[in-house]
Amino acid sequence: MKKINVGIIGLGTIGTGVYKILKERRASIKDKYNLDINIKKCCDISLSSKRKLKIKTDVFTKDFKEVVQAKDIDIVVELIGGTNIAYTISKEALKNKKHLVTANKALLAHKGKELRKISAVNKVNIGYEASVGGGIPIISSIKDSLLINKITSFCGILNGTCNYILTLMSNGIDFSKALGMAQKEGFAEADPTLDINGKDTAHKVSVLCQTCFNLNLDMKDIYTQGIKEVTSYDIEIAKNLGYEIKLLGISRIKKNKLDARVHPTLIPQNNPLSNVENEFNAVLVNSKNLGPFMAYGYGAGMLPTASAVVSDLIRVSRAGNLYETDKDEIKIDVIKFENIKSRFYIRMMIKDEPGNLGKVTSILGKYKINIDKAIQNNKNLKLKAIPVIIMTKSLELKVLNKAILAIKKNKLIQNESLVIPVEDFA
Ligand code: HSE
Repeated sequence: MKKINVGIIGLGTIGTGVYKILKERRASIKDKYNLDINIKKCCDISLSSKRKLKIKTDVFTKDFKEVVQAKDIDIVVELIGGTNIAYTISKEALKNKKHLVTANKALLAHKGKELRKISAVNKVNIGYEASVGGGIPIISSIKDSLLINKITSFCGILNGTCNYILTLMSNGIDFSKALGMAQKEGFAEADPTLDINGKDTAHKVSVLCQTCFNLNLDMKDIYTQGIKEVTSYDIEIAKNLGYEIKLLGISRIKKNKLDARVHPTLIPQNNPLSNVENEFNAVLVNSKNLGPFMAYGYGAGMLPTASAVVSDLIRVSRAGNLYETDKDEIKIDVIKFENIKSRFYIRMMIKDEPGNLGKVTSILGKYKINIDKAIQNNKNLKLKAIPVIIMTKSLELKVLNKAILAIKKNKLIQNESLVIPVEDFA
């Protein structure tokens, strides 16, 4: 039986889950895979998990060097998060010829290229299933089954916190209460701004671009917009029009150009992504030959994410020296967000004065913007400006931005307008 010694660094939510699953499933893993995964060392700066999990003193350490430098450890599991100490730990582990398993999407988004180089030089593997979609086996599905086809695009609901908040908002709960509830459930990042401002999703888009397209993107090439500007009102109107609003991570290669972005999106209710609710995540991948493939499951939470880490431990243990080489990176032009072509949902707060709606639509007409639907809802009659929703036919965002600027200059609207692309999955 192959024996693998593992060192876990970081005993927070996911680390605790990994410890529990490995203890509980050790015998079954032995049985199924002829593999004995032994927790050799656990490291954390706090003693609370040691106490809670009843970890023996000779197995526990506060010093990560005792894990990354240990001669008898085969795989280091990094579950610290962030890009500082986690980076040092990962680099040191790989340089010391230890395989690395991580859930750290920020680290892979910012330092993935470098870490992959180090892993190739040292002939060790990096497992990162838990970094995207929590417990959903999306990375292994892409690597093992989908890459035989040419992947052309992916779209995903990749942040459980945002999806949970948007679901609660669609039931009339306001944003801050919904965020508090997500934090209480343990879905949110230590700093929830990374969830809300879309950066967590952008990190996952970057990891998926590495996996699907062999592309190392600069984070600034992924247009990123969070969910803070979306209101319950927008969700209600979109629903009545046949759409759900979700925070989507989208990337596609079209005519040799890459489109990569994160933003609230209107999804037609007949697309399965529109039914993904609460903390669930889902990723829809399109590839030649196979067509669409969708994976769905818990995108956050202790045991689902820990299950992805443990599955990586088994995969990496069994792969032995079948390490991934540092493939030649593809170079590609990135489409700027303002150049995307889409249908759009626009919410403008039009000043409640005679003729203003006509003036707004006539400016849109001057820019050759074709209106599909316009809805004026007088729910907020006491306000000096009334929300008007306009659905456009397909156009370049740049043109729409110019038209909105002209409307603003004519003092026809109050506040910033909200513009949300409609995803047609073409
Ligand atoms: N904060 C993340 C989420 C956890 O809400 O999806 C998993 O990356």
